[in-house]
Amino acid sequence: MLFDTHAHYYDQAFDGDRDAVLAALPESGVGLVLCPACDLESCRAAIQLAEAYPYVYAAVGIHPEDALGLPPDWLQQVEAMSRHPKVKAIGEIGLDYYWKEVPHDLQKEVFQAQLSLAQRLDLPVIVHDREAHGDCLSIVRAFPGARGVFHCYSGSAEDAKTLVALGWHLSFTGTITFKNARKGPEVVAAVPMERLMVETDAPYMAPVPFRGKRCDSRYVYRMAEAIGDIKGLPVEEVARITTENGKRLFGID
Ligand code: NI
Repeated sequence: MLFDTHAHYYDQAFDGDRDAVLAALPESGVGLVLCPACDLESCRAAIQLAEAYPYVYAAVGIHPEDALGLPPDWLQQVEAMSRHPKVKAIGEIGLDYYWKEVPHDLQKEVFQAQLSLAQRLDLPVIVHDREAHGDCLSIVRAFPGARGVFHCYSGSAEDAKTLVALGWHLSFTGTITFKNARKGPEVVAAVPMERLMVETDAPYMAPVPFRGKRCDSRYVYRMAEAIGDIKGLPVEEVARITTENGKRLFGID
């Protein structure tokens, strides 16, 4: 059984067939899905999906790209939603220096506020780090009680080892299957299996040979195969270990 630890099923890309896709997952070998939010609206949407499907869980939080124009009580709203029994993490939160609209200082402020909330609530976090590796690392270092996963990990093997030593997990999307993938395989080779997870980031990042298509959790076996190739393990073993890792991190029985 596979655990897709990061899929955005509230995305409009699924408006035509969301229920059909989600209902078909268990028979395709995907037994658990975690749906992270990006803004207050998607927090509510992720919770609704988690209420509708026993194998879907949610995370609530504000993505760095959505940090502009938040209402004054945004953090209280996130906290209130995090009390829902199917909310298992704060996310996705972090820094994104690729998109230029949101000032870095505001991104950092929103990230730090949510790390502090997660620490207080004893919830794991899902970190989005795009072209902000140095700042993300120094911020999470300042929260030694925080734990969680760097999703769609794109940093160096050296930073990966530092994060693992600090107790963090790393997860990989379809980019790990790309022919020109170099850094990802290096990172996977350098990090113990006990800290790795797989994810689709659906509807984005479809793996080879589905590149360019809308991505959904059925494709997550490809990420497990790619990790298995690097680690010299059968896909079933990668599926078992990454699922256990995700259940342990997010506190799912
Ligand atoms: Ni995402």
